[in-house]
Amino acid sequence: MNSESRPEVLISSNEIAATVDRLAAEIRRDYLGKDPLLLGILKGSFMFMADLIRLLDFPLEVEFVRLSSYGRGTESSGKMNVVQGLRSTVKGRDVLVVEDIVDTGLTVAYLMEYLSKKRPALLKLCALLDKPSRRRVPVSIDYIGITVPDKFLVGYGLDCDEKYRNLPDVCILEGE
Ligand code: PRP
Repeated sequence: MNSESRPEVLISSNEIAATVDRLAAEIRRDYLGKDPLLLGILKGSFMFMADLIRLLDFPLEVEFVRLSSYGRGTESSGKMNVVQGLRSTVKGRDVLVVEDIVDTGLTVAYLMEYLSKKRPALLKLCALLDKPSRRRVPVSIDYIGITVPDKFLVGYGLDCDEKYRNLPDVCILEGE
């Protein structure tokens, strides 16, 4: 990564792939035949979404919203910023929110409440990574990939100041 040292691997690409496999099987059981709307939260979820939907062998739609709370720093500002809003109709749909990581919970809590007001038929949440030690608001995650420690994580879509999203593994960024 140019002059930057490569951060320590916490979850290897192989372990991520096995986790995405398991999550896809769980989601398939609940959403098969429902023509669901999979709603990813940008930017962090783009890689997870791409891998997940390749394993879901039934008709579905993909949509993204872009929410941001961190700005350029490493601490959540706690204030949600809707950068790109929802274009699809949610009312009556079977919706699955796809998130890379639930940290304080502020991002998904905000989105789940926003979506539930639009009266979907089914609304569930899938998160590849869960960092419960940092939770500031309660969040119910229906499909959890891996519980992670309170470290600043990058890679597989997760960034620090927009860098490291392209790493194939989830890594710990020391000193953040
Ligand atoms: C990150 C991550 C989650 C959110 C989780 O997004 O991708 O969406 O923070 O944190 P929370 O549970 O404390 O709300 P970020 O706001 O950094 O935007 P990005 O996805 O564009 O990197």
